[in-house]
Amino acid sequence: MKVLKSGSKLLFAVILATAVFGCSKVSTPSAYVPTAADATATATLADLQAGRTLFINNCGRCHTLPIPDDYSASQWKSILPGMTSRTSLTTAEVTQLTKYVTRGN
Ligand code: HEC
Repeated sequence: MKVLKSGSKLLFAVILATAVFGCSKVSTPSAYVPTAADATATATLADLQAGRTLFINNCGRCHTLPIPDDYSASQWKSILPGMTSRTSLTTAEVTQLTKYVTRGN
């Protein structure tokens, strides 16, 4: 009985997680939502918000959407040129996307 009970709890947790983190691209947990506190001297909140949208719309097409905090700012700066060249983003858009994933660094 005990085993069955914890088993159904686990199943419930999985269903809940799927409901919360499932399909919607915009509420994806890997793409943090920038707030005024994330703005820096070089990245305005508007830059970060635009960068997030560009990131979500362009960087989950070939692989799962990466998690910005999984890489340091300097790692991103070496990874991004090879990735953005596979998109049709403009230079200005790449700048915003870079600010977003590096949290303005
Ligand atoms: C046209 C397909 C494609 C698109 C679009 C794309 N990627 Fe990738 N990405 C890949 C492939 C393929 C790899 C595997 C490594 C490689 O081939 O360079 C990869 C690998 C990565 C990695 C892992 C690199 C490492 O060294 O660990 C990151 C991070 C990444 N992509 C981020 C992005 C971001 C951010 C964007 C949006 C600007 C993006 N990708 C858009 C195809 C793509």
